[in-house]
Amino acid sequence: MLWITEVAPRDGLQNEPRPVPTDVKVSFVNALSRTGVQEVEVSSFVSPRWVPQLADAEEVFTRIERVPGVVYSALVPNMKGLERALRAGVDKIAVFTAASETFNRKNTNASIAESIARFRDVVARAREAGLPVRGYISTAFYCPFEGKILPRQVLPVVEQLLDVGVDEVDLADTIGRAVPRDIRALLQDVLRILPPERVALHVHDTYGTGVANVLAAYEEFGITRFDSSAGGLGGCPFAPGASGNVATEDIVYALRMSGAPLSVSLNALKEAVDIIRPHLDRPIPSRLWGVLQTRSDLDEVIARDLTAGAHTEGPSGDRPA
Ligand code: HMG
Ligand code: MG
Repeated sequence: MLWITEVAPRDGLQNEPRPVPTDVKVSFVNALSRTGVQEVEVSSFVSPRWVPQLADAEEVFTRIERVPGVVYSALVPNMKGLERALRAGVDKIAVFTAASETFNRKNTNASIAESIARFRDVVARAREAGLPVRGYISTAFYCPFEGKILPRQVLPVVEQLLDVGVDEVDLADTIGRAVPRDIRALLQDVLRILPPERVALHVHDTYGTGVANVLAAYEEFGITRFDSSAGGLGGCPFAPGASGNVATEDIVYALRMSGAPLSVSLNALKEAVDIIRPHLDRPIPSRLWGVLQTRSDLDEVIARDLTAGAHTEGPSGDRPA
């Protein structure tokens, strides 16, 4: 089964300058919970001075209607964030560091080593509380300040995150520069130390290669955990040039038509985006957005085409041992 983490309420909103009312965020999360995704990254328990848009994380968590089976997660940078997250009743936390020192400093005011040292207690305490932990590695392919990041710079960070006890490692293309060749180069190395079910991929779609990167990871390496954002919203305030995450509707279409076991509804995603759209001062960037305006039967069309003989086998190709 594929695992889609819907990051629009967190990554999608954190960079929006106009405050989105809490009511709207709650309705947005509720609508996303009904699309069929496995996880919704609801907000961040970071410093409200650093990310004012997400200062209402507690209130959003308290007011959402939780759909059984859906995991509601949040970003946590330090112990203060973890305490807030535990009080708010999160199901899972994500700690975050980077493979580039310059980016990590700008994003968290800490070196990579300092941020990982901070996580040791945070992860231990979260695990004591029974929460799974994700460890993000930003700028795992390119950094807006340092340029190309090589797999040999990423691997030690993977190892250190495993050492502090994260359950899954999320490799992030923060500024959306990676192409399938970059994805292959890093996955070949990472999968030597970690099975594919413990690796997630978080791609932004700045240069239009997001869907290709997801398909390469799924078909060639058996990666099944992907982050994406309804509408293709997203960006990091501390990463100049980063645009939205790859759109959930874009990867759902591509993965379903490739035979992936996934039942996320494209029409339910459109309904969710319709809730947030009036509160954003920019057009919805996803590829499928235009299609979803003109046809409401896309879920049925996909099901029919698959029944009629589109691919049903699942991933293929050589995978590393
Ligand atoms: P700092 O300023 O070095 O921290 O920030 P500090 O410990 O000196 O605290 C400064 C103030 O913040 C204090 O308040 C703290 O109490 C408060 P004051 O005493 O001055 O009033 N504070 C907090 N308040 C609430 N919750 C907290 C918290 N922590 C401190 N958890 C810090 C260090 C890490 C806190 C800060 O840099 C920060 O919050 N950074 C977060 C930045 C962020 O959210 N970036 C975007 C998310 S990452 C991302 O988008 C990438 C990703 O999508 C993957 C990818 O695409 O690459 C995940
Ligand atoms: Mg991101």
